[in-house]
Amino acid sequence: MQLPRKIDHIIVPPIKCQGIKTKLVKFIANNIRWANNGVWYEPFVGSGVVLFNLRPNRAIVSDTNIHIIQFYNDLYLKKFNLIDFKEFLEFEGNKLKDRGKEHYYFIRDRFNQNQNSFDFLFLNRSCFNGLMRFNSNGGFNVPFGHKPERFRQSYITKILNQIVRVQEVMSGGDWIFKTQDWSSVINDLDYEDFVYLDPPYIGRFTDYYNQWDESDAIQLANWSQSTHASFALSMWVKNKYRFNEHLNAYWGGNVLRTYEHFYHLGSTENLRNAMLEGLVIKPESASILTRQYPQIDQKQLEISISDLVLPVAKSVVISHFSSSHSL
Ligand SMILES: C[S@@+](CC[C@H](N)C(=O)[O-])C[C@H]1O[C@@H](n2cnc3c(N)ncnc32)[C@H](O)[C@@H]1O
Repeated sequence: MQLPRKIDHIIVPPIKCQGIKTKLVKFIANNIRWANNGVWYEPFVGSGVVLFNLRPNRAIVSDTNIHIIQFYNDLYLKKFNLIDFKEFLEFEGNKLKDRGKEHYYFIRDRFNQNQNSFDFLFLNRSCFNGLMRFNSNGGFNVPFGHKPERFRQSYITKILNQIVRVQEVMSGGDWIFKTQDWSSVINDLDYEDFVYLDPPYIGRFTDYYNQWDESDAIQLANWSQSTHASFALSMWVKNKYRFNEHLNAYWGGNVLRTYEHFYHLGSTENLRNAMLEGLVIKPESASILTRQYPQIDQKQLEISISDLVLPVAKSVVISHFSSSHSL
């Protein structure tokens, strides 16, 4: 499908991960310009929510997390039967209800020995806060989410519907799934290809599959300067406390579109913090700014150089950003 594009209903994936872009998919689809003639590369695919909603004809998608790739590749190749998922979740869900955390840890141990996709889904949907985290040996180490009755029938149905929807979308695409480091996937790209980059935030979160530091981020920025392909990078721009200096330092000359959203720390309004998320886009691949997508319910910001303090309309070329402004 060509971009920009209006998305009415977000396809929610069955697998969750940190940094999932469910709330940003409409914004991303709205700001990228791409004819969908080449290959869509997504080397940090995570939950797959961007891929499933943008639905490119051809794609090479990858991630260092073998469990995610294995799960989606098997889904893509139709190796799973929906009835098997249903029976598995009902069976293990009932045991979880009876035995509580003991059963969760039993499944976690089993997964760490056998790395089964069904166990992976079970853990992903019942662990603490839906976290995806692995220890230094690659073992899943997220604790139980404290909900023994997690797999009620309505919840199982919801997961099964998510699997069915993703599988429907997959059937329309010529896609390849690979477990690989980003740097070995995006070589020799063509002018017609597009790369959507969503690496972990620098220094934010580190585990077996997310060892992302400043030098990785710089390597990625350097790569972007030499590629023939179009690209867009998701990156935080600023929060209450600071501005992301990495953007200014390494992504200059590109277009920056921004989107403000709020997150809550605790339960009171006082702890409601604004975060400005950005999409850094190769200039020729940025959509023409338009207001024709009123379905974006959260406030979509575009900022001008002189009005950085105010939430007003424009996009900006990064080299003009100044960290001295506050949100
Ligand atoms: C911010 S998440 C991507 C989120 C995804 N766009 C979504 O909406 O769900 C970053 C992903 O990069 C993967 N990753 C971390 N380091 C990587 C590397 N060196 N090469 C490829 N993937 C990597 C992680 O496993 C994780 O799934």
